[in-house]
Amino acid sequence: MMKKFFALALSLAMALSLAACGNSGGSAGSSAPSGSVGSGSGSAEAGIQTVTPGKLTVATSPDFAPYEFYAIDKNGDAQLAGFDLALAGYIADYLDLELEIVPMDFDGVLAELNAGNVDLGISGLSPDPDRMKAMDFSDTYYAGGQSLVVTQANKDKWASVAELNDPSLSIGAQLGSIQYKLADENTPDADIIQLPKVTDVISELLGGKLDAGFIETVVAESYAKNYPDLYVAFDVPYDVKGSSVGVQKGNAALLAGVNEAIAAALADGSMDNFVATANEQASGNIHEGLLEGGASSAAASSQAG
Ligand code: ARG
Repeated sequence: MMKKFFALALSLAMALSLAACGNSGGSAGSSAPSGSVGSGSGSAEAGIQTVTPGKLTVATSPDFAPYEFYAIDKNGDAQLAGFDLALAGYIADYLDLELEIVPMDFDGVLAELNAGNVDLGISGLSPDPDRMKAMDFSDTYYAGGQSLVVTQANKDKWASVAELNDPSLSIGAQLGSIQYKLADENTPDADIIQLPKVTDVISELLGGKLDAGFIETVVAESYAKNYPDLYVAFDVPYDVKGSSVGVQKGNAALLAGVNEAIAAALADGSMDNFVATANEQASGNIHEGLLEGGASSAAASSQAG
């Protein structure tokens, strides 16, 4: 059943990204001249090898509005949406490759990239030096900060992050994420709970099973629009800034092509449009994950996948 849902969401997303490609214009001139051989011609896509020839296989974890999430459209259907998805479409178009999006939990994005099963991970990835053995990172395409979130009911309960470093508190973070590191650094004495999806962290918090959660600020603010009981309480400093595309380790030609595409998307205003559209779609829609109701079903579906 979950598979069907993903397949549907995936085909909708592909249709969406194809439509986006049609609109993005301006990058058509980047296509390699037909008949060009090997690398060294200077164009980004010369000599790029991918997991499946002709395709760009991209892993993402759609629990992270406005980066990537399931938005419910006018017909009540779930569609993959978000500025990471739009950027993926732009990069594929720029490199003249057919986009294939593979949704999975975030720890899976890291594992699949590390195993070399996908070309890219576009999933709000922080270019953390600890990950650089497993993947390469593009230039950053978006700036973001980190926060500690609580519920509205508790908004005045603690005066600082340090006050939440308390063994009687349960604090959530996404499995495999830098937010888990932040929890470990800032609130090591608390009971730190790792959950597969960011939406699990939010639903457990709203359900009273967690006291707080570490979440990226724009993501927390986005979900707070739909779930006003969520309160973004504190900024949490973190020295790795921004989000990058994770690139299969050692694929230098692909990394160069991705960096060229990102530079183009930042320069021609596309990225700004992707962000604006994603913010619009994320506010007022319900996101998959919260609807599914809690960590147990999410854990079960992540095991099945
Ligand atoms: N920026 C954080 C990291 O790289 C969290 C990313 C989570 N992404 C997601 N789609 N859930 O660890």
